[in-house]
Amino acid sequence: ALAVLTPKDLAGKHVLVTAGPTREELDPVRFISNYSSGKMGYAIARAASRRGARVTLVTGPTCLDAPWGVETIHVTSAREMRDAVLERYASTSIVIKAAAVADYRPARRAPDKVKKSDQPETIELVRNPDILAELGANKGGQLLVGFAAETESLLENAGKKLNEKNLDLVVANDVGQVGAGFNVDTNIARLLYRDGRVEELPLMGKDALADVILDRVRDVKSKK
Ligand code: CTP
Ligand code: CA
Repeated sequence: ALAVLTPKDLAGKHVLVTAGPTREELDPVRFISNYSSGKMGYAIARAASRRGARVTLVTGPTCLDAPWGVETIHVTSAREMRDAVLERYASTSIVIKAAAVADYRPARRAPDKVKKSDQPETIELVRNPDILAELGANKGGQLLVGFAAETESLLENAGKKLNEKNLDLVVANDVGQVGAGFNVDTNIARLLYRDGRVEELPLMGKDALADVILDRVRDVKSKK
């Protein structure tokens, strides 16, 4: 959309968006991660900025260019993402967590490259902090949007995340479907609201979906 024709309906809002995967290092050359491209989060950051918001993007490693006009903070691990997000939480009015945070990290990171001769048979993993759950537990008027990537029982699993993480809106993606989820330009999303409503959206491009999510965020925010 042409920037000059976009209504600045998010003016005065500080929107914090997270995007991309996190990487959990085993040693200086190896890591555990996931297939997130970062495209959805970057699309939301661009759209929010175009609509007049002050936008902070906290992003894991992606191939994407930092959006123009958006404060972009690059992080690698889940723990770095947590620190970057919590530092800015108090000053934000809307948080949209599109990042695919690794749930586990290696219990130890070797300072030097591990040689195959002394490679252990198993890798010990420990749980990463759940950033979004922490935000939900410490809410002070912020509107919280989570994503739920599922391959089964989509609505049930996404609904649980809405409640357990104290969210205002969940964008649920059936990543088992063709044309949805990781590393593609389209999504088939369902939006779950606090009042139990579920909105089914058609297959759409991530840029269009970003604007729909921001429309709903604006509407929920105005009722809060
Ligand atoms: N999330 C987070 N910190 C984590 C894990 C997830 O902030 N350590 C956020 C994601 O950014 C996303 C939401 O929580 O907005 C849901 O992520 P998802 O991986 O679908 O859910 P989990 O709670 O990790 O549960 P599971 O992986 O078992 O489905
Ligand atoms: Ca997870």
